[in-house]
Parts: sequence; C-alpha cells; structure tokens
Amino acid sequence: MDNISVGIIGGTRSMGSWLAALLQKENCKVHICGRKTPLSIKDIAGLCDVVAVAVPVAATEKVIREVGPLLHENKLLMDLTSLKKDPVEWMLASTSAEVIGCHPLFGPNMPDFSGQNIILCPARGVKWIVWIKELFQNNNYKVLETSPAHHDKMMAVVQVLNHLHTISLGMTIAASKINPRELANYSTPVLRAKMEIVKKVFAESPELYADIITRNQDTVKIIELYEKTLADIRTLIKSGDAGKLKDVLDKTAKILF
Ligand SMILES: NC(=O)c1ccc[n+]([C@@H]2O[C@H](COP(=O)([O-])OP(=O)(O)OC[C@H]3O[C@@H](n4cnc5c(N)ncnc54)[C@H](OP(=O)(O)O)[C@@H]3O)[C@@H](O)[C@H]2O)c1
Repeated sequence: MDNISVGIIGGTRSMGSWLAALLQKENCKVHICGRKTPLSIKDIAGLCDVVAVAVPVAATEKVIREVGPLLHENKLLMDLTSLKKDPVEWMLASTSAEVIGCHPLFGPNMPDFSGQNIILCPARGVKWIVWIKELFQNNNYKVLETSPAHHDKMMAVVQVLNHLHTISLGMTIAASKINPRELANYSTPVLRAKMEIVKKVFAESPELYADIITRNQDTVKIIELYEKTLADIRTLIKSGDAGKLKDVLDKTAKILF
C-alpha cells in the first residue's frame, strides 16, 4: 500500500517517536500530536488512514474514546499499550474502523531494534493487519499474533512478576538500612547489573511500571504464587538442610531449561 498517512497520538517522545521514525523510513506520511502540539486529536483523525495511540496507560481509555468515533470503517485504529485486554475492548467499543492491538516488547532507547519482539492482537478487519505485520517483519522485528487475554496472561510473568521481583529487591535493600555507598564497595558484577535494573524501575519511569503491575487482571494470581514460592523457600531454608534446597533447584532447572 502506498501513500499511507499515519497519525500518532503521543508521537512527541518515547514509543510514539519510535513508531514515527519507523513509519517515516517506510515512506508513510506521519503526523504526530501530544497535549501541546499544533495538531489536535481531531486533526489527526481527519488527516490519517491509520491512527496509533501511544499515550501513557492512564490516559489511554480517554484518548481512544475521543478518537475512535472520528474514524470510519476503512481506517485503522491501533495502540501501543503494554496491556492489551482493556485497550482492545475500548477500541472495539468506540470505533467502526479496523482495530489492532500492538505491544512492542522493548523500550524506546535501544541502540538496535533488530530481532526484538512485537505482539499483535488483530481484533477487527483483514486489510491493515497484512500491512502492519509486513512492515514490522521487513524491519527485522519478530512478530507474534495472539489474543489480548493471552498476551496479558504472559505479561503477568514478563512484566508483573519480573518487575515485582525488582521492586522487592530495591525495597528490601532500602529497608535493610545498609548504606548504598557501602553496598557498592561490596558489590559483585551480578548485584551491580541488578542494581542498574532497580534504578531503571525506580527512577526512570515509575509511573509505567506502577500501571502495568496494578492494571493487569492476572496480577493477583501471580502475586499469590510468588508469596507461596517465597514461603516454601523460607520453610526449606529454616530446616537448615542445604541438600533439600539443592534438590528443589535441580528439579526446577529441569522444568525451566
Ligand atoms: N516506554 C516503554 O518502555 C514502553 C514499551 C512498550 C509499550 N509502551 C507503551 O507505550 C505507551 C506510551 O508509553 P511511553 O513510555 O512512550 O510514554 P511517554 O514517554 O510518557 O510519552 C507519552 C506521549 O503521550 C503524550 N500524551 C500524554 N498524555 C496525553 C494526552 N492526554 N493526550 C494526548 N497525548 C498525550 C505525550 O506528549 P505530551 O506530554 O507532549 O502531551 C507523549 O508524546 C504506553 O501505553 C506504554 O504502556 C511503553
């Protein structure tokens, strides 16, 4: 398809800028808007064949409900939100356009995006999914299609459990009252690498991490499993039997690797 015009709501930075750069490289006409840009959401809807919503999670529903009704059925409404169930439902409910949920599984500041995963949740229509899938694949992204519910279930591990673990590490170190400067002098390469991740979660985009943990409908289930696992490990350690703990690690390694 030629001469496609794409509007990115939230295109002024981060993931919106990533998508804008990619589409410009593919010769699309790209329009962007944020809260203070000359173009408004309404302008973007009028100008563009495709509208992508790339605003913070907390603003996504309002923006989708504003732009959705302005798009007719031969256009595409898509989003980049880190969760898929709610945003895809909001898009389907607010527009008659084709709908695709999209989640790039990486952040905007990578030196090379080649080989990174992108999840697509096609929800309405058959025309635009072919275009967007080919566009990502032609740029060396790995594309996987799935349902919004399955995506969010996987994100309960990829994002919720993963970041919860990082948050627990940071908060436990802070609660231990150990001086962070002294800790740095005792750090191993593994702890230094983990503290870089702690810094990213706590200092770079705490709002994003808070949103993706609290808004995933599978969060409670995974936290319960995490607490049970921690309690089981505690019981094993309290027994003082290193052999038993080693057996559990061996058994788990067989499941994981
Ligand atoms: N960052 C990541 O690592 C990452 C990875 C994958 C997916 N995502 C998803 O991508 C989406 C955007 O995240 P981000 O990290 O790129 O956010 P961000 O850095 O905060 O950028 C948000 C963009 O949205 C605009 N914006 C904010 N509120 C708006 C509103 N009410 N109306 C119109 N525009 C608004 C901002 O522009 P102004 O401030 O100029 O208004 C900015 O351009 C989220 O859904 C997130 O879950 C993020």
